[in-house]
Amino acid sequence: MSGSPIRPTTHVARHGLGHLRPKLHFSPSAGFMNDPNGLLHDGERYHLYYQFAPGPLAVHGHICWGHALAEDLYHWHDAPTAIRETADGQAFSGCALIDHRNDSGLFAGPGPQNIVAIYTRHREGRQNQWLAISHDGGLDFEEPAGINPVLDIDSDSFRDPKVFFHAPSGRWIMVVALARTHRIAFYGSSDLLHWQALSEFGPEGMLGIDYECPNLVELDIEGGGRRWVLIISINPGAPQGGSGSQYFVGDFDGERFVPDPQGLRLLDAGKDNYAIQVVEGLPTEQATGIGWLGNWQYCQEVPSEGWRGVMTLPRRLGLRRDWMGGLSLIQHVRGLEALRAPIARPGIDATLVPDQPLTDLALPVDAAVELRLRFDLESLPTAPAGRGGRLVLCFGNAQGERLEIGYDAASHQLWTDRGELQGFSHPFFSQRGAIALGPDRREVQLQLIIDGCSLELLAQDGEYSMSSMIYPAAPLDRLAIYVEAGQARLGQLELNRLQSTLTRA
Ligand code: FRU
Repeated sequence: MSGSPIRPTTHVARHGLGHLRPKLHFSPSAGFMNDPNGLLHDGERYHLYYQFAPGPLAVHGHICWGHALAEDLYHWHDAPTAIRETADGQAFSGCALIDHRNDSGLFAGPGPQNIVAIYTRHREGRQNQWLAISHDGGLDFEEPAGINPVLDIDSDSFRDPKVFFHAPSGRWIMVVALARTHRIAFYGSSDLLHWQALSEFGPEGMLGIDYECPNLVELDIEGGGRRWVLIISINPGAPQGGSGSQYFVGDFDGERFVPDPQGLRLLDAGKDNYAIQVVEGLPTEQATGIGWLGNWQYCQEVPSEGWRGVMTLPRRLGLRRDWMGGLSLIQHVRGLEALRAPIARPGIDATLVPDQPLTDLALPVDAAVELRLRFDLESLPTAPAGRGGRLVLCFGNAQGERLEIGYDAASHQLWTDRGELQGFSHPFFSQRGAIALGPDRREVQLQLIIDGCSLELLAQDGEYSMSSMIYPAAPLDRLAIYVEAGQARLGQLELNRLQSTLTRA
């Protein structure tokens, strides 16, 4: 309607929406999905429980726990709904664990399949923590009579418990958000049923409106040593707009988390990686996290064929000493080795110059694509006129759509620009993002995975992450790589097709 002050939020793609379904990332077959919940390795299989609204509108509401199972974190098989909405409330975010020793006394005895879920029941005016157990390996859960809620502080802003066993103090620890007052509460328990308040952290770092989905995990430092990391998601109010996650590095003595003076760091510089959860049941050297590729600003309005919501790929987590002398979280996508099939290697000259772009690299439209690239910075000048060399990766198609990822040598910044994709527009679906890489780099290393409506970009061997949802109206089937000013000496250029891991027809 011309002259209407109301802008449509979604352009219906002429091409249909089938190309937006990821082939590698987990997404629900139908309905709406947000946070990962209860990520658990039970010794044999991985469980991915998730916030799920099964309705046909694919928007948030009447939340229960969806469930999928995989042996490898990729080939997910759908399982029945694990925890339902009841008269006591929706089943909001939480965690799963194995009560090996039967500390709760709720199982017949010790056992490797004693799966417990602890989560928030949410109803108008009240959020409290509940416990359910499974007798069939994590498929179905029941709330034992007379024990719930296991933690209630008469609050409407108390959610997202994450529980793990802290061996040095010999007890279970729960981290849980006092969302609106920007505090993370720590509780201890010997039986998972009775919880004793230990300490609180915050308000600290970026506050936003709510703190959500805390995780506390001990991670290996590259080169030796370990440190604790407290991850806190905030919504809305992240610097990129809307939802975002920050982390603090520090010490945890079984009672209190004390942050190092380095302050907060952003876990992801993109707009769409939220509510990251660490998988329970893995040793520290295999610590793995999965996030929700979404942002509350627009996640319920993105183009949909009856489903919405995508998880990140599993990322191995660690710490690295960074250029500021602090510790940065390192994220490496796990398990891609087995899925890579090289796309015919382009005949590249080792040096890119402005008038000789690498154009028309054909991309498969029916598969996820990975690009791995290393280039030498010394040949990309930092120009005196404030404009340095830039290297640009442009994923496009015949309709003139472009997804641009680039590096600016003058400012050491990496950028993404999804503004020339035509499948979705929304006042908050901001188009460009940028992140500064540490200043004293000689080489830039990038890994990019494009899969349906998702883009995961990792730089400098996992030290920086920028995750974004992307909505091309038609598949992106062409890649061009070029430099603007300067020269880029390529050390590596690898384009891979990634095998689909979809288990559904
Ligand atoms: C985070 C969150 C949680 C809450 C859940 C509800 O995205 O808002 O705080 O438990 O989603 O689905």
